[in-house]
Amino acid sequence: MYRIGKAEIEEVARVIESRYLFRTGSPVHATEDFEKAWAERIGVRYSICVSGGTPALIAGLVGLEIGPGDEVIVPAYTFMATASAVLAVGAIPVLAEVDDTLTMDPADLASKIGPHTRAVIPVHMVGYPCDMERILDLARQNQLKVLEDACQADGGSYRGRRLGSWGDAGAFSFNHYKIIAAGEGGALATNDRKVYERALIYHDIGAEFRPYAQGLSEPVFSGMQLRVSEVIGAILNAQLKRLDGILTDLRRVKRQFLEELTQEANIRFVCSNDIAGDCGTTLGIIFDSESIARRFAQSEGLDGWLPIDSDKHVYCNWEPILQKRGAHHPALDPFQMAQNQGLRMDYSKIMCPNTLDILSRTVFISLHPDWGDQEVDRRVRDCRKAAAAL
Ligand SMILES: Cc1ncc(COP(=O)(O)O)c(C=O)c1O
Repeated sequence: MYRIGKAEIEEVARVIESRYLFRTGSPVHATEDFEKAWAERIGVRYSICVSGGTPALIAGLVGLEIGPGDEVIVPAYTFMATASAVLAVGAIPVLAEVDDTLTMDPADLASKIGPHTRAVIPVHMVGYPCDMERILDLARQNQLKVLEDACQADGGSYRGRRLGSWGDAGAFSFNHYKIIAAGEGGALATNDRKVYERALIYHDIGAEFRPYAQGLSEPVFSGMQLRVSEVIGAILNAQLKRLDGILTDLRRVKRQFLEELTQEANIRFVCSNDIAGDCGTTLGIIFDSESIARRFAQSEGLDGWLPIDSDKHVYCNWEPILQKRGAHHPALDPFQMAQNQGLRMDYSKIMCPNTLDILSRTVFISLHPDWGDQEVDRRVRDCRKAAAAL
């Protein structure tokens, strides 16, 4: 979370003063307002605010009618939640390599599509947009559904259109660590009425009894409880007003690093599929070897870190998946379901060697939108010094 303050307090105060914190029937309708504003900002017809990015992914997969018997391709570099969401709907995650853009490698995606593949989840990791054109081409050729995981890229874009609006649906996170935040929270975005209705039904265990049920074409099935309270909706309304300012400042900071270090002999930047739409949360620099990357990251003043060290984001650390413990009960475990036998589920810690190689040679510097010129200048000087000493 980058910015929070009085505006959020005022929005929450309005909700508390109304003495009504449940979204249905709220006189403040904070959550409903946020959903409308988020759909408009992302450029889609529908949005549903839910309790996190993981619930948004699960509701999206439910919306897309993914279930047992289906394989869903996810990148080997993402938060484990992307793969866990696939298991949550009874399907099997198949891993694809990332390339040197840190996002799903379209060539590897092409090679991983099999007879049971029904969907792909490209993940816009650390604010870097995926190559959506190539991914969508492949999806069209193979009749795959596309659910974008934009949890680490709220508000980012690709070729002038917001991330999360390219695929059949997009999932966003507003947890504490995200570009805009409410502690926990998320949203699903889609243009597809059927996906919207199915996700809406799934996200609300009481869907049958809500006023909106009258307008549904889809039959109500038994879902979950992924709703948020009006307090979350209120915080997100204030956060949304900050979003484009945060992105402008993050991009300014990143641009300064890129421009000032572009001539440095030892520095090669991670290439972005769209630098104008890149969120600017992270500066990625890629080296020839892990030892050089580690030496650079540890240099004074840099605050650098290697993505290979981020346990939850690297597939080789996803023990519940590698060990095929897919649910709390064997009958609900997708790895044990009869419909899934014959699907690809032979995972190993070394199955995506390119991903491991790239992540172990990359150094990240996390950027902050409130860094002024002096702060950036100092950090650029430290990068130069560190690069010269390699
Ligand atoms: C890429 C990615 N996908 C999904 C999620 C899940 O979001 P949440 O923690 O809001 O459930 C996260 C959160 O960290 C994430 O980074």
